[in-house]
Amino acid sequence: DDKEIEGIRSSGHLAAKILDATIRASKEGVTTEDLNKLAQQLHEDAGAIPAPLNYGHPPFPKSICTSLNDVVCHGIPDNIPLVNGDILNIDVTCIHHGYYGDCSRMVVIGDETSSERQKVVDISLQCLLRSIAILKPGVLLSEIGSLIEAYAHTQKCSVVHQFVGHGVGVSFHEAPQIHHNVNDLHIPLIPGMTFTIEPMINAGVAEAIIDSNDHWTARTEDGKASAQWEHTLLLTDDGCEILTPWP
Ligand code: MF3
Ligand code: CO
Ligand code: CO
Repeated sequence: DDKEIEGIRSSGHLAAKILDATIRASKEGVTTEDLNKLAQQLHEDAGAIPAPLNYGHPPFPKSICTSLNDVVCHGIPDNIPLVNGDILNIDVTCIHHGYYGDCSRMVVIGDETSSERQKVVDISLQCLLRSIAILKPGVLLSEIGSLIEAYAHTQKCSVVHQFVGHGVGVSFHEAPQIHHNVNDLHIPLIPGMTFTIEPMINAGVAEAIIDSNDHWTARTEDGKASAQWEHTLLLTDDGCEILTPWP
C-alpha cells in the first residue's frame, strides 16, 4: 500500500546514499573492511540497520558485500588493500523503519583496468538499464531474463543463473524471484510490485562456485571477471520508479 511504498522508497534512497559514499571512498590502498566500517557508521547515523549483518546460515559476518574481480557476489569485506585495476561491486541493503532498500554498483580502482574487466562492468550496467527501460504493467517477468540474456550473448558474455533478483520491501528476499536468464515465468507485472533486478555478468563461463570455507563468497568457476549492478524498483501505472536512485 502507499504507506509501505513510501517506507521502501525512503529506505531505498538511504541505501543509495550509503552506497554512493562507499563507492567514492573506494581508492587504491583502502581495504574493503574500511568500506564496511564506513557503511556501518552511515547506517548507524541514519538510524538504519545493515540487512546483511548476521543474515542467513552461516550468518553473514559484515554489513555490506564487497565482490572483487572474479567474485560474482556475496564477497566478505577483509583487510586486503584495493589495487589499481581492481573492479569492485559494493552491495548495500538498509532496513529503515522496518523497510528494505537494496542496491549495488561497480567501481574501477585507479586509472584503468583490463579490457576483460571493463567489459563486464559496462555490459552488466547495460543489462540493468535496458531491462529497467522495458518495465511497465503487463510486461511478463520472463521478458526481463530474455532481454538480459540475449543482450549479454551478443556481447560474448554469460549470465549467472545461480543467483537471482527478488521481491523486496517488507523483507529482504521476497517472492517472486527475478531470473536474469531465459525462463518460463510468464507472469504479468502489476503496479505496486517492488523488486530488484541485479544481473551478474561473466566474461567467461556462467558457473559460480561458493567458497567452501566461508560458505558465502561466490567466484567464477574459470577465474574470469564478473560484474553486477542492482536497483530496487517500483512498478508504476506507466513504467517504473527507481527506488535506489544514485545521488
Ligand atoms: N544484497 C544481496 C542481494 O542483492 C544479498 C546479500 S545477502 C548477504 O540480494 F548475506 F550476503 F549479505
Ligand atoms: Co538484491
Ligand atoms: Co543487493
